[in-house]
Amino acid sequence: MGESILLPPVARGTLMPEAERLARLDEALPQIHATVAGETDAVALQSTLACLLWETLPQTNWCGFYRRVGERMLAVGPYQGSLGCLRIDFARGVCGACARSGEVQLVPDVHAFPGHIACDDRTRSELVVPVIDAGGRLQAVLDLDSPHLAGFGAGEAQRLLALVREVFAAPGLVW
Ligand code: SME
Repeated sequence: MGESILLPPVARGTLMPEAERLARLDEALPQIHATVAGETDAVALQSTLACLLWETLPQTNWCGFYRRVGERMLAVGPYQGSLGCLRIDFARGVCGACARSGEVQLVPDVHAFPGHIACDDRTRSELVVPVIDAGGRLQAVLDLDSPHLAGFGAGEAQRLLALVREVFAAPGLVW
């Protein structure tokens, strides 16, 4: 315990070619699953995933969760990176679009996304994944931001959606 997952060191801010990014993510995912196995506290899970995905995805400048705190309101949860907005209405931004629709939002250029919220004006691309509980209710979103254009692709979207489904749709989680 206390040791992180094992991955080759890559400098923060690096955008590796897609095949290398996905190979790194595929190396990390079994280690991430093993680290969180058996945990039932949603904040412990969100904190640990924010930490380990931050290490796995060096192209990110923000990596973490917004939690649903009302019918149409998100509040910031565990994250790594630069200062995030504290609250996001479902009507606003990429996170709001994910929360409203329950669908993954893969945005290769945030300047082309109407209503994007610039918490950090270096952000150029985003991936936002819905976090849905065992009862089918949207409980949070996982937000990944990059200072690179197209910092994430369909490969990351598919893998992170599968991770989040497996971790957060488990029965008996305490939210
Ligand atoms: N960019 C996000 C807001 C969250 S922060 O950047 C951490 C959005 O448009 O939803």
